[in-house]
Amino acid sequence: TENNLITINKTTYSQDEWTNISKPIFNSIGRNIHLQPCHPIGIIRDIVESHFPAFSKYSNLPPNVSVKDNFDDLGFAMDHPGRSKTDTYYINKDNVLRTHTSAHQTAAFRESDQFLITADVYRRDAIDRSHYPVFHQMEGAKLWPKHHDIENTIQCLQVSVEQPAPPFHSLSNPVQPQHSLKQVEAVVRHLKTSLEGVIADIFSKINAGEHMKVRWVETFFPFTSPSWELEVWWNDQWLELLGCGVIQQRKGEMLGWAFGLGLERIAMILFGIPDIRLFWSLDPRFLEQFQANSISVFKPYSMYPSCYKDVSFWENTSSFHENDFMELIRGIAGDLVEDVKLIDKFIHPKTHRRSFCYRINYRSMDRSLTHNQVNSLQQLVRNDLVAKLGVELR
Ligand code: PHE
Repeated sequence: TENNLITINKTTYSQDEWTNISKPIFNSIGRNIHLQPCHPIGIIRDIVESHFPAFSKYSNLPPNVSVKDNFDDLGFAMDHPGRSKTDTYYINKDNVLRTHTSAHQTAAFRESDQFLITADVYRRDAIDRSHYPVFHQMEGAKLWPKHHDIENTIQCLQVSVEQPAPPFHSLSNPVQPQHSLKQVEAVVRHLKTSLEGVIADIFSKINAGEHMKVRWVETFFPFTSPSWELEVWWNDQWLELLGCGVIQQRKGEMLGWAFGLGLERIAMILFGIPDIRLFWSLDPRFLEQFQANSISVFKPYSMYPSCYKDVSFWENTSSFHENDFMELIRGIAGDLVEDVKLIDKFIHPKTHRRSFCYRINYRSMDRSLTHNQVNSLQQLVRNDLVAKLGVELR
């Protein structure tokens, strides 16, 4: 950043009242861990790519995109919560750091009718061991001419599907009026068998393939209909792995599917990685554990002690948003914070002012923090809470 200008990937933007990109986020742009063949994120990318040999691959697209590409052209309503400043990193009013790889769909379809895009995506979020404001997605999409015989291209099923696909004739998850039911059924069968095949293949690398259970859950995306999420049964719970659906047809005589797969979630499961911050580690004890094209269980090298600090405050206006607080903490302590939890909330009966108490868990992944270090970080957090979020400390 310089004066009022911000440069990302050789494009210079002027900042405005929408700009909300902090230093740590800015600095993580361009790390490209998905391009490293011996990094868990790169290893998963390779496995998924090998499943779609004929697809065009894009893995170097810059993260700075327009609001038009990220939201407008995909049919996001103007009041969709994803557009808000508390959820999305805005470069300025008209440009964002992509919140999903779908931001590149429209452009990619101009060059190819079957492609995979792998990229870092950015979302303001909570701080805990499975959330990080930068993560990775793979977007896959395939189009057919409308009258192609899709049936013939189907592969066979490889995992046990716990719940057969729900019918998609429902009002909340409808077939698009310009598509025939028979065509859509063929596209959806192709989509589901392709994705079940990828997931079965990935999990078979840790010999969990045949015991795997997955299920399809109906959902909504502005740019697909009908739409689903694929969930996998893991450690006694259903985990969401991807979103997908039949692409909303805006023009042309084509029909097809798209999916968006989150890579960190799968990598944490497969490699047994306990904390999402580890993906960003430069520690050789982390990086030297992994080999290209193979999945090995992560061996923790040590756990340094946690140090908990509480902070309580009254909001002054009713504009306090938790994600702003999370971002403030990341700006000060970066990866030294493992999680931040709301432990108490109170509304004053007369003034209706809200009071919050948060517990911040400081823990480094590669060294022991001293009390002095933690205390001074906590002091900076307290100062910034007053200076930037205008709260009143208790
Ligand atoms: N972009 C969606 C998300 O990030 C996932 C998705 C991609 C859904 C493609 C449908 C089709 O949640």
